[in-house]
Amino acid sequence: MERTANQVTLDLVCSLYAEHADALRAAKDAQRAHRRAHPAMKTQLDDVEAEITYLLLRYLRPEKVVEIGSLHGWSTSWLLRALADNGTGRLTTVDLVGNATRTVPPALAKGRWEFRQGDARTLAGDWLSDVDYLFIDADHGARFARWYLSAVFPELDAAVSVHDVFHRATPLPFTEGAEVVRWLEKTQTPYFTAARARAKHAYARLTELRRELGVDAAVHPGRDNPMIYFRIHRSVDAGETAGGPELAPFR
Ligand SMILES: C[S@@+](CC[C@H](N)C(=O)[O-])C[C@H]1O[C@@H](n2cnc3c(N)ncnc32)[C@H](O)[C@@H]1O
Repeated sequence: MERTANQVTLDLVCSLYAEHADALRAAKDAQRAHRRAHPAMKTQLDDVEAEITYLLLRYLRPEKVVEIGSLHGWSTSWLLRALADNGTGRLTTVDLVGNATRTVPPALAKGRWEFRQGDARTLAGDWLSDVDYLFIDADHGARFARWYLSAVFPELDAAVSVHDVFHRATPLPFTEGAEVVRWLEKTQTPYFTAARARAKHAYARLTELRRELGVDAAVHPGRDNPMIYFRIHRSVDAGETAGGPELAPFR
């Protein structure tokens, strides 16, 4: 079990599945019920990537989580469920549209969720300061990625996940995925993915482990799991190596 590297590893993810299997099964049951209660809700996160997000939040125990891109609040409810199970932490969600406020379960939202409607690139306020975990699933164009790579990441000392990167083994040119992967390579920032098209071994090992642990019952039909996960440290910029503290709980 590796819990000391400055990155998310397959071993860490496997150990978190084993450690939180019962809580994860309960979270999945609740998410399944939530999905059934809102049949018109659009839900983007696939099961394995949602589960890894939940498990990383359980492990890291972030106090401040920011989500950019909630649509109908599917990822929002996963994030809030992890914070609720931690018994600590708050989530700020930013989206151009306010649909999530109509679907996120009030019991999850109460006391831990703030929704702010607007364009993340121009929204006023200090909502991006002191973030422990940044979840990005918004505009998948290269220009949007260039905004957060240049305006947000240099100030960030946080765990990050970005959705829709590896629907294929390599991201299409001129997309957010291509930009962010290039930045990760340039800054030598390691990242983890369980995307079926990119990381066959990780996807297969997690599929088998989930079956063994009895946490494989489907919530969502998607199987791509294109999300990437990484840890960045303040002032990591082009040409600078991502050093600094190991991946460790925030508190
Ligand atoms: C793919 S959906 C999010 C799906 C959601 N995370 C889920 O798990 O179902 C992308 C969302 O990003 C929002 N979005 C796009 N560009 C944005 C921007 N510049 N600022 C804030 N939100 C944005 C869209 O309004 C949309 O709701």
